[in-house]
Amino acid sequence: MDHERDDSEPAAISRVAEPEIPPDLTHQVQALLQACFPEYPSRTYFKLPPHFRYLAVAAGELVGQVGVELRVIRAGRNVLRTFGVVDLCVSESQRSRGLAGQLLAEVTQLAGSCGMDFVILFADDDRLYTRNGWARVANPCTWLKIHEHATLGVATAQDTGALMVKKIGQRAWPEGEVDLLGHVF
Ligand SMILES: CC(C)(COP(=O)(O)OP(=O)(O)OC[C@H]1O[C@@H](n2cnc3c(N)ncnc32)[C@H](O)[C@@H]1OP(=O)(O)O)[C@@H](O)C(=O)NCCC(=O)NCCS
Repeated sequence: MDHERDDSEPAAISRVAEPEIPPDLTHQVQALLQACFPEYPSRTYFKLPPHFRYLAVAAGELVGQVGVELRVIRAGRNVLRTFGVVDLCVSESQRSRGLAGQLLAEVTQLAGSCGMDFVILFADDDRLYTRNGWARVANPCTWLKIHEHATLGVATAQDTGALMVKKIGQRAWPEGEVDLLGHVF
């Protein structure tokens, strides 16, 4: 039997709570993040760990991942239940086959079944997200500034130029300032 990796094998996607990711997979997550994002720190998160991840494994190897934050945020006077998408990445050899789209579809589906109002993310390049149902919004944002495990202060009412939202429930995306009630991701 040929044990070479078969690049055509579809990836199996599973959801795992962050504290339950076993050490060998944690190493693979870190390696993938460092391969996909230049100057990623030597850990599996940039500011703080996400609450859970979707991991895509093909032929026993991690080929894609997305972190998800459970975040209650405030937009104007509205308190919203959201999932925040963080550090979505797919290994270079597996790109352009729809895997990131599948990971985003998993997050969207869970958000629907959990009664979330929106799935939000921050991205400069909006191509993948526009194609998968996200829209760019320009609300000024307030967040807790965290760098290398130190709280530096609060960024207030800044236009990130990167916020994108996908409506899950019945509520329209509100106008006004967004308070992330935590770090930006
Ligand atoms: C962005 C990324 C996750 C896409 O993964 P993928 O499995 O190839 O995505 P899909 O096949 O579902 O969709 C591909 C489309 O995403 C878009 N895309 C490519 N790179 C992108 C990027 N960095 N940001 C946003 N969209 C991107 C393109 O429109 C692409 O279409 P193409 O293949 O015809 O060029 C992958 O390129 C990656 O890991 N890049 C490095 C990490 C990164 O930049 N992550 C995004 C952080 S916001």
